[in-house]
Amino acid sequence: MRIVCGSDHAAAALKHEIMDHAAARGHEVTDIGGEGSDYPVTARAAARAVAKGRFDRGVLFCGTGQGMMLAANKVRGIRCAVCSDPYSALMARRHNDANMLALGARVLGTELAKMLVDLFLSTDFEGGRHQRRVSLIGEMEGERAEDDV
Ligand code: RB5
Repeated sequence: MRIVCGSDHAAAALKHEIMDHAAARGHEVTDIGGEGSDYPVTARAAARAVAKGRFDRGVLFCGTGQGMMLAANKVRGIRCAVCSDPYSALMARRHNDANMLALGARVLGTELAKMLVDLFLSTDFEGGRHQRRVSLIGEMEGERAEDDV
């Protein structure tokens, strides 16, 4: 699988550990950088690359994962989940078809982060009724509340 990774200054060490881990499992891993940038800049670049199909999945790292997740989800076609437990990482794939994962280096230990990434990269989307719900999320993209009558 083609994976793009990016981090801010708070999470560079975890990013590199996870990149090595994913590469050792046979994934093609690309570092989009970001250590010297504000997290929205990096999240945007990585998310756009995933949305354009240059990568199959993206994994973003910051202090909590929250900022990266919030920024990545502004890009059309991106479903980025911030996870700190294995069940959420599993279900973000099975039910939500998440194409990006955001992790918090100040929240997670390295071994837990590896487990979350393994689940995120190895779990298939179940489709079916979940596809309808994911499609409903897609329909909201580009909506502006001020356009409501
Ligand atoms: C940086 O201090 C921190 O705000 C950032 O890494 C991230 O946690 C934001 O969501």
